[in-house]
Amino acid sequence: MQLCKFLGTKYSIIQAPIAGSDNARLVAAAAEAGALGSLGAQYRTPEEIQKVISEIRSLTSKPFAVNLFAFKPEAIPSDDQIARSRSHLDGYYSRFGITAPAAESVQKSIDSEAQLEAVLEAKVPVFSFTLGSLDEKWMKAFKKNGTLVIGTATNVKEAIVLAKSGVDAITAQGSEAGGHRGTFMGAYEDSMIGSMALIPQLVDAVSVPVIAAGAIMDGRGIAAALALGAAGVQLGTAFLTVSECPVNAEYKKAIREHDADDTTITKVFSGAPARGIKNSFITDNSEKPLLPFPYHNKLTRPIRQAANESGQIEYTNLWSGQGGRLAREMSAMELIEKLVAETDEVLAKLSPIHA
Ligand SMILES: Cc1cc2nc3c(=O)[nH]c(=O)nc-3n(C[C@H](O)[C@H](O)[C@H](O)COP(=O)(O)O)c2cc1C
Repeated sequence: MQLCKFLGTKYSIIQAPIAGSDNARLVAAAAEAGALGSLGAQYRTPEEIQKVISEIRSLTSKPFAVNLFAFKPEAIPSDDQIARSRSHLDGYYSRFGITAPAAESVQKSIDSEAQLEAVLEAKVPVFSFTLGSLDEKWMKAFKKNGTLVIGTATNVKEAIVLAKSGVDAITAQGSEAGGHRGTFMGAYEDSMIGSMALIPQLVDAVSVPVIAAGAIMDGRGIAAALALGAAGVQLGTAFLTVSECPVNAEYKKAIREHDADDTTITKVFSGAPARGIKNSFITDNSEKPLLPFPYHNKLTRPIRQAANESGQIEYTNLWSGQGGRLAREMSAMELIEKLVAETDEVLAKLSPIHA
């Protein structure tokens, strides 16, 4: 099935949720251009989620998605554990003249039920999630609201669990992908499966549409994903360099100029594995004691914020997939139109395998 028919969009293209790097303007621009725009809402409070959804609706009447992490948090770290991990970050807090977060604020967990409630109440067209599966009560509630639900799998076992739980579609996150690994069954290292292997195996294992994600940057990548059986594609890194994306110019430049072997999987920013461009923060912290996600994320947040504001990108997460060098600086609409034209061209020019 073509993803566009299923989503009610013009094209089978999803602008990936890029939590921390997206806003209403980007989501609405992607939606207006015929793709499914997605908002990464993980780091927003329930009130902020409601507000940004209203903002999206004021900018577009086209379908869009809201995304959350469906992870099960690990035990809250003790004051001592926090102090130990935080002491290794002292140099960064002083460098930027910022106060280190108090243990109490690190221990205060995100109210994930309230976030889900905010998304549910807004009756959004599509709800997508990563890093877990959705509890039955939420799945039922979203379905009752008429919301399409999309889960993320990094291996076949996860895809089967998601399909059984009732998701309407599954994103196949290949090992090339930028941002957090969505793995929720087994060690993430075992599920670093490239899209070439992952997509067809997921397509064979489940009957719901499979969406390809991971280093898809142009029509060649889209055509390849479709050939492997994907119903559509989800692009994250490609949208980081569009004009509506609010990340700073230094980050956009780094995406376009780094080599494919300049990204790595690291836990140093958030406590959970994610793919980003190598920088000195990663090198200097890879042996340091980290708290689990989301606690470590809270410890590094003020550092990352200050680094982003001052354009000092050696000290912040530069999430990027392995295709970053293929990124283009243009508007979301120009990018989406280019992607569609390129895909048509590639599909029309494919050479036959036989003489
Ligand atoms: C900056 C950034 C932030 C991301 N945040 C999220 C997120 O909040 N939720 C999610 O499901 N995926 C997130 N992802 C992963 C994307 O959904 C997708 O798997 C990935 O972008 C595909 O690979 P690509 O970046 O090479 O296109 C993020 C990716 C990036 C690059």
